[in-house]
Amino acid sequence: MTTQHAPAIQVHGLDKSYKDLHVLRGVDFTVARGSIFALLGSNGAGKTTAVKILSTLLKADAGTARVNGFDVATQAAEVRESISLTGQFAAVDEVLSGRENLALVARLRHLENPGRIADDLLARFSLTDAAARRVATYSGGMRRRLDIAMSLIGNPPIIFLDEPTTGLDPQARIEVWQAVKELAENGTTVLLTTQYLDEAEQLADRIAILHQGRIIVNGTLDELKQLLPPAKVEYVEKQPTLEDVFLALVGADGKDGDTGQHPIPARK
Ligand SMILES: Nc1ncnc2c1ncn2[C@@H]1O[C@H](COP(=O)(O)OP(=O)(O)OP(=O)(O)O)[C@@H](O)[C@H]1O
Ligand SMILES: [Mg+2]
Repeated sequence: MTTQHAPAIQVHGLDKSYKDLHVLRGVDFTVARGSIFALLGSNGAGKTTAVKILSTLLKADAGTARVNGFDVATQAAEVRESISLTGQFAAVDEVLSGRENLALVARLRHLENPGRIADDLLARFSLTDAAARRVATYSGGMRRRLDIAMSLIGNPPIIFLDEPTTGLDPQARIEVWQAVKELAENGTTVLLTTQYLDEAEQLADRIAILHQGRIIVNGTLDELKQLLPPAKVEYVEKQPTLEDVFLALVGADGKDGDTGQHPIPARK
């Protein structure tokens, strides 16, 4: 199989412990090219750990993962050329302006005309008006958008977004969602992690739930909804939401990690 025809991401039997803490216990999934795949899980489920392994920042203890057809363990350089990673915490330089941040990354990647690349991305992410301002003055949503824009420099075919909208207000979340949808429409493969069920519902072609170290379900939203029968409430048929499916599978307390937080926000 050539790398062009391989699925964007193939993961088999991925296993990872931090000392005594066995976080990933045989994770399997495949992500088709050009699709949006959501890895859903509570705090501490191992989402960031999985993303770090796929982006070559961390070594798995066992199992294999191929990204863009390349093995993360033995072809790390090729994997890195195929991806970009937007981490859980924004990696923008506060002292520089938005435009300077983008142009700097373009220059580091040895691309021609870094200024034009920066201006195009600023326009695409509705940041033109703030282009010359120091990032220290940006709102959380603006920083996130700039962070995602930075990860697109050089047009990587696969992007990892680790909790792209955590901490954002509803309007900023919608803006980030729009940017992610546009990426996939242009053929980029997106793997995102989230603890927000509505984010997975809105964005993902396929949703996988990571729980106690394994993928316990993996399917389209409709397939996941079919796991639960529609609840009959008087004469009205109520379809299960993704939240119903998640809580039925994971348990109502949703606790999984060591953070002691309630990770799944109640739907209003
Ligand atoms: N470097 C590390 N050393 C020891 N334990 C770690 C390390 N990194 C993560 N862990 C632990 O591994 C578990 C999984 O962490 P991970 O960050 O992958 O979860 P997550 O699903 O991304 O959670 P969150 O939703 O809070 O971001 C947690 O219990 C965490 O405390
Ligand atoms: Mg995480």
